[in-house]
Amino acid sequence: MSAPDPHVSPRLTPADHRALSDEAKRDPQAYWRKVAQRLDWIEWPNKIHDATNGWFADGTLNASVNCLDRHLATRGDQTALIWQGEEADNIIRMTYRDLHERVCRMANVLREEGVKRGDRVAIHLPGVTEGIVAMLACARIGAMHVVLFGGFSAEAIADRLADSGAVVAITANVGRRGAKRIPFKATMDTALGLRPLSVRRLLVVSVTDDSVPMQTGRDAALEPLLEAAMPSCDAETMSANDPLFLLYTSGSTGKPKGIVHGTGGYLTWASYTQEMVFDHQPGDIFWCTADIGWITGHSYVVYGPLANGGTILLFEGMPSSPHPGRWWDVIENHKVTTFYTSPTAIRALMREGDDVPDARNLSTLRVLGTVGEPISHDAWTWFHDVIGKGRCALVDTWWQTETGGIMISPIPGAVKEKPAAATLPLPGIQPVLVDEKGAPIDGAAEGVLCIDGAWPGRALTIWQDDGLFQTTYLKPYPGHYFTGDGARRDEEGYFWITGRVDDVINVSGHRIGSAEIEDALATDHAIAESAAIGVPHDLKGQGIVVYVVPRDPSAAEMESRAVKAITAKVGRYAVPERVLVVPDLPKTRSGKNVRRLMRKIACGETEGFGDLSTLANPDIVPTLIEIAQRATS
Ligand code: WTA
Repeated sequence: MSAPDPHVSPRLTPADHRALSDEAKRDPQAYWRKVAQRLDWIEWPNKIHDATNGWFADGTLNASVNCLDRHLATRGDQTALIWQGEEADNIIRMTYRDLHERVCRMANVLREEGVKRGDRVAIHLPGVTEGIVAMLACARIGAMHVVLFGGFSAEAIADRLADSGAVVAITANVGRRGAKRIPFKATMDTALGLRPLSVRRLLVVSVTDDSVPMQTGRDAALEPLLEAAMPSCDAETMSANDPLFLLYTSGSTGKPKGIVHGTGGYLTWASYTQEMVFDHQPGDIFWCTADIGWITGHSYVVYGPLANGGTILLFEGMPSSPHPGRWWDVIENHKVTTFYTSPTAIRALMREGDDVPDARNLSTLRVLGTVGEPISHDAWTWFHDVIGKGRCALVDTWWQTETGGIMISPIPGAVKEKPAAATLPLPGIQPVLVDEKGAPIDGAAEGVLCIDGAWPGRALTIWQDDGLFQTTYLKPYPGHYFTGDGARRDEEGYFWITGRVDDVINVSGHRIGSAEIEDALATDHAIAESAAIGVPHDLKGQGIVVYVVPRDPSAAEMESRAVKAITAKVGRYAVPERVLVVPDLPKTRSGKNVRRLMRKIACGETEGFGDLSTLANPDIVPTLIEIAQRATS
């Protein structure tokens, strides 16, 4: 591999990394006390961590002050945010001073609307600056933001509004995608009309001049309110353990889980990891391509880089629109130094050929990163060689909504990469592999990935369901935090993530629960039973195959009915690759669906199923194989 470029001067060496890891292990309280100093606290936390009180229990702070106010004296005129619209000449630059003012105005608007500490505010927006502004405004007044992914259906939105009890929602008239318009407001209107909800005000951002119907008494255009609001706003003093936000993610149960993150621990973690993993340095232009509707957007578009006084880039558009080199143009034009994206995006961009990136000047890039799903050796090598020209650090970062920030990852200069390996835990993190019975496995081995010990970024709980938090993460392997992932550890102690060991399907880096899809299918009375299975997919990492058993065997159009039910209940991003209409599902004698078998059949396997005599209905197997083969031929 070629030597690092002269402008790569990582802050940590391998020896530093070892020293920090040892220090964190030897005296965690002292280590995390030191790490917490990176934030501005109103009252310094004397308590660092204990099992009963959590992290930094007696500390107080405000997250928006940490991301904005504290930078004003030293970097008020530095660009905090570069927004690149779909059209090349549509650019907004906001300094820290500008962003601070805009956030204060938004915070005042929310206070005017009666939003108080602890209230929930739903944010459902396309890639415009108001999303970030609204998040930080909530943080300023102590309200919890609940960002809803743009791809959710109206029903999925209504479920989350109901669960969170949001009192105000923020949406846009439309989202822009080339000449296409995505009906954000209309989707929100449908969601709010589905059942009685606690949302009393809907604030609408005008992304374009397309007009949308406004409901008198409920809806208000946001911009005039922002203009009328005061440009400064006192920040609430929050306890470290006061929730900063709640964010929905999918698990093994059909019901989406509102993961709650606290203020002090989460922000410490987002800031610590962003600096360490991306070797954050003054002058960096940091581009994380994630939607703010996912945790990656929370921690690495907003909180991490802004807490560290960085410059972030937000791009409104898609990777290959209007042409396949669009993302590379953004990197060239804005001199991006740090580029964090998903394996799905890399696979798609790779298909366009090397000529496309080769025609651009990508020499400002210093650190590349991936997240959200396993990356293949091929995609890793292409990203490293063709985009990074072999002289950028490439960090394959493993973490989850629940962990708040990056947990296992290479560190530029300090942890040597291996293609497609998440490599080593960050200092302070203790991953452990366990066998099926929960016994830790040492050395080079494969097992279920758990985390031992505490770290500041761990979620506080599941919104209004702490019991579910305990049973999902803490009870499966007592004494360990259960991640839901499998992993392999090599002779050097490097971790290689192998994928989910539960019924979560990872489509293009989006977590979707099998049960979520099955619950959606159950809303159609023509469907007696169903099973959703994840199968390998060239572009998306995993695709979904659903098995559907119609109540009436002669029923027509079951495929389109299934797609319709999923689109309505979950969203288009969960639409399956194939719908297999079958007379029955393979079951054990106790009536449990045998998912392992369905997975193999959906993957096109026709033999090697092992002993089928334990099935209640072994005769169904050849029928399923035939139907699956017909569907792919
Ligand atoms: C998967 C995204 C392999 C994993 C930050 C995890 C990964 C789930 C990686 C969390 C990676 C995330 N390599 N798999 N580098 N990063 N995953 O909550 O299955 O949207 O449990 O958080 O994505 O997804 P989530």
